[in-house]
Amino acid sequence: MFGCEHSSLMRNPIDDERYDIEEPFRYFRVGEENVGTRDLANTELLSVLPGQHYSMTEKTLRLEFSGNDEKAKAMISISIRVDASPGCGGIVWPAGQILSNYLINKGSNFLQGKCVVELGSGTGLVGLIAAKLGASKVWITDQAPLLDIMQQNLSMNSLQCNCVVAELDWGMSIPAAIPSPDVILAADCVYFEPAFPLLVQTLDALATEKTQVFFCYKKRRKADKRFFGLLKKKFTWAEIMDDPNRNIYNRESITLIKLSKIV
Ligand SMILES: C[S@@+](CC[C@H](N)C(=O)[O-])C[C@H]1O[C@@H](n2cnc3c(N)ncnc32)[C@H](O)[C@@H]1O
Repeated sequence: MFGCEHSSLMRNPIDDERYDIEEPFRYFRVGEENVGTRDLANTELLSVLPGQHYSMTEKTLRLEFSGNDEKAKAMISISIRVDASPGCGGIVWPAGQILSNYLINKGSNFLQGKCVVELGSGTGLVGLIAAKLGASKVWITDQAPLLDIMQQNLSMNSLQCNCVVAELDWGMSIPAAIPSPDVILAADCVYFEPAFPLLVQTLDALATEKTQVFFCYKKRRKADKRFFGLLKKKFTWAEIMDDPNRNIYNRESITLIKLSKIV
């Protein structure tokens, strides 16, 4: 389990459900000392995450992904400014790294020329990787408090030519500038029950039957399954089986699925 999670996770499931209601953000209590994945030391999950170096002075995490594909073989590096103060999205979560890694391993043609929207981007990591991989246009989106850190990360990685930051609050109307994309990306966006219907609403508003939706989530509590109860009214899904790292992150309750809109 991640160091930022609360020790009460060891309590019995009934207590857990009660604590989930009383303190929905307990899994996301993070501090300065807890950015990136330094707190994952000695877990098996580390073996499938990118190499990383955190600079205390810059508050920047340098992530180094190594691709499998011939063309994407060269290391893909990205610098991400992390800051827990705007909320849980200000740090880089393992699900985001796993989804980024998957996209990189799919190779350089996978997103080439595609229009991509990332939901709940936080620092912007996954969408910025999509932009680096040659997507024609990427929108990294989140709520207002995260816009500044996403903008900093966009500039730091010089991806302004094919990536933009936009506010997209789930459940609100989709900003006119954001078109229906070819690909939607979302990592670690299932954790706060009141937001479940809003996220489904936004996925439904953005996607068509042709949209590929890559959705990486970490199951933390029993209530998370209620999200899938809502999702199944609008989407079908299948677990992504062609990721060689799947068994390792599945053991940490992280799953990567692809959604298809029901027409
Ligand atoms: C756990 S973080 C994951 C961040 C990033 N995707 C990652 O994997 O590192 C969840 C993200 O969802 C965003 N989020 C939560 N509720 C939201 C809402 N109603 N509308 C838009 N974004 C939301 C948060 O601001 C946060 O950035």
